[in-house]
Amino acid sequence: MRRCVIGRTLGMALACLAAIGPRARAQAPEPTAGETYKNVQVLKDASASSFMSAMFFQRYALGVSCDYCHAESGWEKDDKPAKRKAREMIRMVQELNARQFEGKRAVTCMTCHRGATTPQTDIAAVRQPTDQMIGLRRRQPVARPVVPDTTPAGILARHVAALGGRAAIEKARNTVLTGNLLTSGGAIVPFEESFSASPPRWRYARHFGAGTGDFASGFDGEQAWNSDNRGFTPQQGAARGRMALSAVLQHGQRLDDQYERLAYAGTELNGTRDVVVLTGVARQTGNRERLAFDLVTGLLSRRTIVTEGAHGAYTTDWYYENYTSIDGIMTPTIISEFSPDDGTVRKVRTIEHNVALPANAFEPPAKR
Ligand code: HEC
Ligand code: HEC
Repeated sequence: MRRCVIGRTLGMALACLAAIGPRARAQAPEPTAGETYKNVQVLKDASASSFMSAMFFQRYALGVSCDYCHAESGWEKDDKPAKRKAREMIRMVQELNARQFEGKRAVTCMTCHRGATTPQTDIAAVRQPTDQMIGLRRRQPVARPVVPDTTPAGILARHVAALGGRAAIEKARNTVLTGNLLTSGGAIVPFEESFSASPPRWRYARHFGAGTGDFASGFDGEQAWNSDNRGFTPQQGAARGRMALSAVLQHGQRLDDQYERLAYAGTELNGTRDVVVLTGVARQTGNRERLAFDLVTGLLSRRTIVTEGAHGAYTTDWYYENYTSIDGIMTPTIISEFSPDDGTVRKVRTIEHNVALPANAFEPPAKR
């Protein structure tokens, strides 16, 4: 196992995860956590990736970072009391669900913890906004929005038309975006992101500057890879699927064919805008997703990705905002990603299509 400094931010934890992740081949059946790690006692039969998602789930459910339970000396060590307690808790939850809820996932860490290490026991009073109580801002009854077409095919067709139409989209052989990534820690990090249309390939590079250097991830049509200050790591299994999907999605431009079991799930509010929601399962990752399209413009405004862990699920939200038309194709210029405890925002400054890219533009740095 390579040494991995346990980070406080999601980005650092994901980089750690890449460094300690399973080394399975993409197509081979995934090894279990018991086969992959040194000291997994309870969740040993879970697949390695659902085990790691369970670690993230625990982190989010307790509102802590990985180092709350794990010591710098090694992930397998049991020297922190919180880790030993967590193992007992996993057993408790398994027994509770087996005995009381017919083996269903009725109780998870979240049921009690709700983002805190010590679950709340008393119920606190909530102050109501006084202006609402005295009627100054009493809410107006909201008219139910009318959705022109509630079939998944109709909603996706409207989205493609809103982007500029299939013909305009297909004229772009590749797209290069540049701008700044704003991190939750307050850093402003220049980035470039490039996509090629066929075959779908993708590269996303971030320049953290002195001390940290350049981070990049990519998918060259075959191999998914990650490269950071700890070196180069090929990505397998679920991580590879995510990167392959990033290459195809091009910020929401090629949604059709990427999902199975698409179904209309009604309308809701996304901020102040009405959105039309489709649910489905992404073919490349197997993750359940919710796709929200702006009712007025038809454009994709949010993607919610559900990650199933061995004993609970969590979601990640992507928001696509401030679309602008370049060469007749609409592209979002503010793209944000939020996990339960971290967030980043990409502010796109330049968008170019059909750029003369070098032949190895999407290959891992080792080959460049
Ligand atoms: C609430 C406590 C807790 C948090 C938070 C937590 N873990 Fe764990 N971790 C555990 C427990 C407990 C085990 C052992 C599980 C078992 O025995 O089935 C474990 C095992 C592991 C292992 C296996 C090590 C080995 O070789 O045996 C890795 C790797 C790991 N965790 C990574 C992480 C990462 C990365 C994070 C943050 C995203 C994280 N953990 C957050 C409690 C925690
Ligand atoms: C039925 C409610 C319940 C569920 C479900 C539950 N916990 Fe707890 N957990 C508690 C309570 C209550 C405490 C505090 C107990 C104490 O102070 O001794 C606690 C304490 C802990 C602590 C010690 C926190 C500290 O003070 O450092 C850890 C770690 C922990 N839980 C992890 C988990 C994990 C991981 C899960 C999911 C696998 C989980 N818990 C599920 C009720 C629950």
